[in-house]
Amino acid sequence: MIIQHLEVKNYRNLQYGVIIPQNGINIIYGKNAQGKTNLLEAVWLFTGGRSFRGAKDSDLILHGENRAEINLDFFSGERGQTAQIFIESGRRNAVLNGVAQKSASGLIGKFFSVVFSPEHIALVREGPSLRRDFMDAALCQIRPGYAALLSRYNHTLVQRNTLLKDIPRHAELMDTLEIWDEKLAAYGETVVRGRMEYIESIREPVKEIYAGISNHEEAIDLNYQKSADDLKQALKAARREDVAAGHTSVGPHRDDIDITIDRRSARAFGSQGQKRSAVLALKLAEAELLFRRTGERPVILLDDVMSELDSGRQDYLLNHLNSCQVFITCCEPGAVKQLREGALFEMDGGTLIKK
Ligand SMILES: Nc1ncnc2c1ncn2[C@@H]1O[C@H](COP(=O)(O)OP(=O)(O)OP(=O)(O)O)[C@@H](O)[C@H]1O
Ligand SMILES: [Mg+2]
Repeated sequence: MIIQHLEVKNYRNLQYGVIIPQNGINIIYGKNAQGKTNLLEAVWLFTGGRSFRGAKDSDLILHGENRAEINLDFFSGERGQTAQIFIESGRRNAVLNGVAQKSASGLIGKFFSVVFSPEHIALVREGPSLRRDFMDAALCQIRPGYAALLSRYNHTLVQRNTLLKDIPRHAELMDTLEIWDEKLAAYGETVVRGRMEYIESIREPVKEIYAGISNHEEAIDLNYQKSADDLKQALKAARREDVAAGHTSVGPHRDDIDITIDRRSARAFGSQGQKRSAVLALKLAEAELLFRRTGERPVILLDDVMSELDSGRQDYLLNHLNSCQVFITCCEPGAVKQLREGALFEMDGGTLIKK
């Protein structure tokens, strides 16, 4: 996956800009608040997902304007492709190779990218929902049908929860719980199986990459943590408790990934640097797996991460990303060692200058 040309109009503080990146490492440097992260965010939107900063679509339009547009020319599947994203009236629309998509999520599985920014440390530091999102987002990119399966599961979960809240007032509804439990267990088991396979497939790459990052001084491990072994059984067993609580206490929406460094919970005991390295290993493994499944190397977006890595870790990272197109943001132009072909750009007040 290679970006050949990117044009942004009225996207956040980027009123108008064009970038023609190189195949190797593209460094975008500039002072704080100039628009560096905004540019990476614009690239990321072509994965079909929402902003990696969790912003609302309407926040992505330049203040005072009512429409933002991003045009991307990229090389994938051995051919040149074009994609557009328009954001207006609180909606994000996409066009791929001239064909309007029903929604921006029509781009999922067409353009691949992996992003790593300082906020992503939350993936290890915070509660389980971000780790579930990590697996789900990755599976949506590589497994056709997973997004639909997940939404069926979530929809059924909402219906079961509504029923649980109604039961105290309408005891006769207790009998209908059986049907929902069966449906929920069937979807849920498939979600769990997909996630477990995903964790199994990134486990070795994560271990290897983490070992490389930590100069073989520390060992990471990860395991899928199920909230129930037999979901159907567990739902049945939890019925009374679930009615009392008004929500469903077991299922993939309660699962987690257990991440350990030297056999201790990374979340509870990991240092800041260890957590950051763990997230980096997860992200790079995600990129590796995307390549194995699709034959395409995702575009790598590294927002502001190099300055926090010592030069040995930087070398490891850049060597590891040898075959990918990479975009790196930083404040000082010399903050990143340029190990192979690439380009240098300065971002100044929303304007990009090729150096
Ligand atoms: N919708 C918008 N319209 C106009 N400006 C915006 C909009 N959204 C964000 N901005 C502004 O864009 C500017 C640049 O933000 P960005 O996060 O890209 O900076 P950055 O270059 O990555 O800085 P840092 O080095 O601090 O990370 C900020 O000043 C922000 O207020
Ligand atoms: Mg930034």
